[in-house]
Amino acid sequence: SLVRHYSFIVLLKNERKACGRKDIMTVNGKFPGPTLYAREDDTVIVRVTNRANHNLTIHWHGVRQLRSGWADGPAYITQCPIQPGQNYVYNFTLSSQRGTLLWHAHFSWIRATVHGAIVIFPKHGVPYPFPHPYKQKTIILGEWWKSDVEAMVNKSTQLGQPPNVSDAQTINGHPGHVPGCATKRGFTLHVETGKTYLLRIINAALNEDFFFKIASHHFTIVEVDASYTKPFKTNTIFISPGQTTNALVRAHRPIGKYLIAASPFMDAPVAIDNLTATAFLRYKRTPKNSPIVFTHIPPPNSTLLTNQFTDSLRSLNSEEYPAKVPLFIDHNLFFTVGVGVNPCETCVNGVRLVAAVNNVTFLMPQISLLQSHYYNIPGVFTDDFPANPPFVYDYTGKPPTNNQTSNGTKVYRLRFNSTVQLVLQDTAVIAPESHPIHLHGFNVFIVGTGLGNFDPIEDWKGFNLVDPVERNTFGVPNGGWIAIRFRADNPGVWFLHCHLEVHTTWGLRMAFLVENGEGPNESLPPPPSDLPQC
Ligand code: C2O
Repeated sequence: SLVRHYSFIVLLKNERKACGRKDIMTVNGKFPGPTLYAREDDTVIVRVTNRANHNLTIHWHGVRQLRSGWADGPAYITQCPIQPGQNYVYNFTLSSQRGTLLWHAHFSWIRATVHGAIVIFPKHGVPYPFPHPYKQKTIILGEWWKSDVEAMVNKSTQLGQPPNVSDAQTINGHPGHVPGCATKRGFTLHVETGKTYLLRIINAALNEDFFFKIASHHFTIVEVDASYTKPFKTNTIFISPGQTTNALVRAHRPIGKYLIAASPFMDAPVAIDNLTATAFLRYKRTPKNSPIVFTHIPPPNSTLLTNQFTDSLRSLNSEEYPAKVPLFIDHNLFFTVGVGVNPCETCVNGVRLVAAVNNVTFLMPQISLLQSHYYNIPGVFTDDFPANPPFVYDYTGKPPTNNQTSNGTKVYRLRFNSTVQLVLQDTAVIAPESHPIHLHGFNVFIVGTGLGNFDPIEDWKGFNLVDPVERNTFGVPNGGWIAIRFRADNPGVWFLHCHLEVHTTWGLRMAFLVENGEGPNESLPPPPSDLPQC
């Protein structure tokens, strides 16, 4: 294995897009940012220099960070922000990981433009568990706001109002249709007839779940969140923010130009938007004026399609890549997730929209939880995060009489190497809505999912403990539940939150504190000397 060095200089760049110009934060002047390439078991050293005008951190989304929690990156969870003029070196090893992941800023909404791909190839001489593709292409889905994102979100927080939805969706940085603006430039995927391509698709958007399609072509899904899956054929990919999907596409047409579409999935009762990002797949050496072949775009509320897609995913579970599902459970947890309201004097309607896990709206601390844990600094967090919700919810029923949340900076403590089953239940405090939840530091197995209220007896019987899909970001279905299992074999503090940034901002977040073990390689090493201070 090798050591790969990268230099990420965060700087402002004036970008012209969607018929407007503005300064955006970028890494090395690029949007999307540079791709980080490595091989399984390599060590990656990224020196991040902040030459922009805003605090930030970088997170390596889906990287296990075994005993390298100081390099994980969420602001105020594992580190203080890197201030303008400062730098920090992220140093981590990609132990037993290969596939597609993403990196992104993890402070406020900076990740709107500060994100990029992580491509981890298998070890030398180790083949893919699927036919070797002719070529590989990375496709990053994102969003574009015409106004300054930080100013917009700060104002909406102050007023307790929902932030604006984006003005356009992007494919590899190129917007699709923007009302009132005819954009000429777009992304084109050039292919050769008869060849098979591996698409590494990444959803780096802040607040959009996407359907992804290519007219007249289908996908064979072979990997999600850097875990191999049983090959599964589909003509529509569903992908939530933070998720990655590797799909084989066979270029089986002799000629032509085909529409590629990333259209939003939206089940919230507010802010429906119909913006679809478009790009083209084009066969090489075919006439420039070939007619475009179009595709049907799923309506934004196609919940059935999202459930069908996610329910079809299974881990490969082969001899080489077994699914190591924990069969016995030490911690049996039940968390409700949802959006509610709290009183707010300065807000427009006297209330502020908040979100919570087990009715706790997580307040960000002043210094990072990991530093406070490591150095025993008191008064930063409490470890009384509840294992169960404080009152009974019903997803179909009326909102509970008390729809106010409590505030706190609470963690849930796990013994080293203990096993966890966590059922996440969507609640309808305001209205049901799906939530793509991300757990830092672990891959989890999705042993069950369903609609309605989780039934601890009946639903438990149906759990898949053989070949459940392994992910780092998993959707709690609209008005339903998801059950995950993982082994707490990584000491540190690990953030769990909705990857729709709007819900994270409102407080849909908590953290697990995994204690050190007794063995020689079972504790968190001391922080690097350049760890930023608050
Ligand atoms: Cu990709 Cu905590 O985020």
